[in-house]
Amino acid sequence: MDYFAYKSGVLHCEDVDLTALAAACGTPLYVYSAATLRRHYLAMAEAFAPLNPTICFAIKSLANLSILRLLAGLGAGFDVVSGGEIFRAQKAGADMSKVAYAGVGKTDAEILQALAAGVGWFNVESEQEFENLTRLARQVGKTASAALRINPDVDPHTHHHTTTGKKGTKFGVDLDRAEEFFARYGRDANVRLTGIHVHLGSAGHTAEPYGEALTKCLAFIDRLAKKGLTIEAINFGGGYGADYEEGESPTAQEYARQIVPLLAGRGLKVLLEPGRQIGCNAGILLTSVQYLKTGGEKNFAIVDATMCDLIRPALYDAWHFIYPVRLGAGQPEPHRRRDFTPPGAITVDVVGGVCEGSDFLGKDRPLPPLKRGDLLAVFSAGAYGHVMSSQYNARPRAAEVLVEDSAYRIIRRRETYDDLIRGEE
Ligand SMILES: Cc1ncc(COP(=O)(O)O)c(C=O)c1O
Repeated sequence: MDYFAYKSGVLHCEDVDLTALAAACGTPLYVYSAATLRRHYLAMAEAFAPLNPTICFAIKSLANLSILRLLAGLGAGFDVVSGGEIFRAQKAGADMSKVAYAGVGKTDAEILQALAAGVGWFNVESEQEFENLTRLARQVGKTASAALRINPDVDPHTHHHTTTGKKGTKFGVDLDRAEEFFARYGRDANVRLTGIHVHLGSAGHTAEPYGEALTKCLAFIDRLAKKGLTIEAINFGGGYGADYEEGESPTAQEYARQIVPLLAGRGLKVLLEPGRQIGCNAGILLTSVQYLKTGGEKNFAIVDATMCDLIRPALYDAWHFIYPVRLGAGQPEPHRRRDFTPPGAITVDVVGGVCEGSDFLGKDRPLPPLKRGDLLAVFSAGAYGHVMSSQYNARPRAAEVLVEDSAYRIIRRRETYDDLIRGEE
């Protein structure tokens, strides 16, 4: 699954001892494993190989340039959702023809930036956006390729905040309006509307909704063909789950089993936009225990990472496995499962120092007895971790480190107080 493992009682990332890394780089600290990133990218590429897809890694999930470069080097394209992400893709040396640009609120400046950058695909989300795109393309004398983001009204069975392919969400155009959309814009001179895009949502744990959505999309493509409108490409989005808890998500192979047979032989260009499945278990957040507060109704381990570093628990009630980096005498290696309880466990809430009740990393966790200074690992923090961090409460953002075998590199330095006031009068 990943290259974070205990060796002689100490958690390692590949061959790097994480107690030594924390001593050298400080905490809170994001640590990524290059081997895990490669493994997850290649698992996806191999599972979907019969479709020869372009795998557009979702920059929003993990945006560090060094990591984008690593993935670009493996042949990845990118899913972008803002001018800033287009800028990141360019800085990472991306092949811009392999970049797909989604988002319901593209501004004129961002569209012009994307046209100038030569992004491969615009994933258009509304009639007004299409009209604006064709107007701007004509204005600058460029042509563009576009896919209509379709809302197939399929429930990916995930948190309502990460559900995007159901009716009533702001994303895409409902399937029953999409035919009219193609009839109206499918022969535009500046914007070749020859693709469809679907993204059901994020962090689902079943593959079946993908089969259901794809079946609807293929029937739609066939209906368009009867009207003389040819679809050349399908972008089947992201949302492929990752194991926050051991074995909870389908593998790339299991997703492929739903998708590949339906698309095989259709002659469509295929794009996929995974983020979480590649990055989630390639990163952890290291944090050290500042204080233990016991004797009240609950026990608290107050750590130096906060909701500013990892907001997923506060935002989605997300569950991350948390465990000491160094195992005490007689402590077994943990299983990353909710029901894992070590001998002599004491139940604690792992919380940060921000002035919000929602500032927690984990609640009611059975952990071995802790003491001040102990180092904890918050697992599965690679995706939607550092990218969603903030400086709330004037807390400088954490550093990021990339490990490769027994070597490591700081790929984003820890912020300083000067970073907090940069740009202010
Ligand atoms: C359009 C689009 N594509 C891809 C993704 C990546 O999703 P995930 O990281 O769950 O694979 C997202 C995430 O929200 C998205 O909005």
